[in-house]
Amino acid sequence: MMKILMVIGTRPEAIKMLPLALEIRKCRELSLEICHSGQHREMADEVFDFFKIVPEYRFDALREGQSLAELTARLLNYFDVLLAKTKPDVVLVHGDTTTAFCATLASFYADIKVAHIEAGLRTHNMSEPFPEEFNRVAIDALSKMHFAPTSLAVKNLAKEGINGVYLVGNTVVDALKYTVSKDYFSPILNDAGDRKILLVTTHRRENIGEKMHSALLGVRDILASRDDFFAILPAHPNPNVRKVIDEVFCDIKKIKICSPLPLYDFHNILRRSFAVLTDSGGIQEEACALGVPVFLLRDVTERYEGAESGNIRVVGSDREKIVSDFFDVLNDPIALGKMQTPSKVFGEGNACKKIVKKLLSLR
Ligand code: UD1
Ligand code: UDP
Repeated sequence: MMKILMVIGTRPEAIKMLPLALEIRKCRELSLEICHSGQHREMADEVFDFFKIVPEYRFDALREGQSLAELTARLLNYFDVLLAKTKPDVVLVHGDTTTAFCATLASFYADIKVAHIEAGLRTHNMSEPFPEEFNRVAIDALSKMHFAPTSLAVKNLAKEGINGVYLVGNTVVDALKYTVSKDYFSPILNDAGDRKILLVTTHRRENIGEKMHSALLGVRDILASRDDFFAILPAHPNPNVRKVIDEVFCDIKKIKICSPLPLYDFHNILRRSFAVLTDSGGIQEEACALGVPVFLLRDVTERYEGAESGNIRVVGSDREKIVSDFFDVLNDPIALGKMQTPSKVFGEGNACKKIVKKLLSLR
């Protein structure tokens, strides 16, 4: 029996890993334990509750105002002790967070195999996203199995001479199958009334401060120039992010600023949105799958596939460019049509099954 330890620390890891946990648990030949590092607290806990999963191991890594180095040191030490105690055959990590990086490094030191879910994403720019681009490269260098979401990710890994790569799709598309519901309703939708919803999220570390301020002013200008738009902005709990949001929108009425939305609400409101303006990674993939136009408030994307298919427009953080790009698309029915067409570039919703099949074949 293969003994697997799945590591999760933040909201996006929980969203993309817990559908896989459910799939692994259907399999008698695989034994699974889950560790939640607590890098995120309420945001990740809500997702565990949604999937009705209780982690076997739980740490509490979050400290107010901690530096990346502090978090890294605490997590590395925690995983060192946990791996010595649990002795898994394989550690499953996801994406590019500090939790995933530390679990990978501790596993490498302990000579335990790592399987990386969502391997091979690259911007080829170490400053964006920061520090995630470094984490991705480091995790892929140390992992033995790489579950790549797209053929571009496979190519990125091949260029780095990395073996053990399997193309499976992105598990976030599997997650949508659990959440999206035709009958969804929320009082937040009442606030929007007949107006078109612009869903807005920002959290990237490298954008906090001037860039985020400028990008959100662009969103504010869009709202100010038309009566038929209403924005919903679930604010990331990072106090530095919250500060910028409050500064920019303190006197604007056509926006609902709220706490992070539960996953079920977020996916369903996203599906009903006219467009999403975001610097998120995962939301780019979800919006492409649902056919919701993405205006990406970053200078580069690692999700090139969505830009190529016409679903994602990279608009950066310049206030004026954001407004002009947004209205260019609105005035161009062909471009808008492409952005509104659901795309399968990130998979078809069967990535978890493919990963389990591969894990079984590797026993
Ligand atoms: C981390 C990930 C990033 C991911 C993002 C998802 C790293 C290096 N980055 O971002 O890839 O896109 O999470 O959101 O791992 N906070 C709370 N409660 C929570 C979560 C966060 O209060 O449940 C606050 C805390 O003040 C915390 C801050 O938000 O210090 C930032 O959280 P952190 O995990 O450090 O986020 P990022 O590194 O920005
Ligand atoms: N999300 C959520 N509630 C919110 C905002 C986002 O559940 O209020 C989900 C969203 O569906 C996506 C994930 O959180 O799956 C993205 O997280 P985030 O943008 O924080 O991280 P990233 O994907 O950039 O790593």
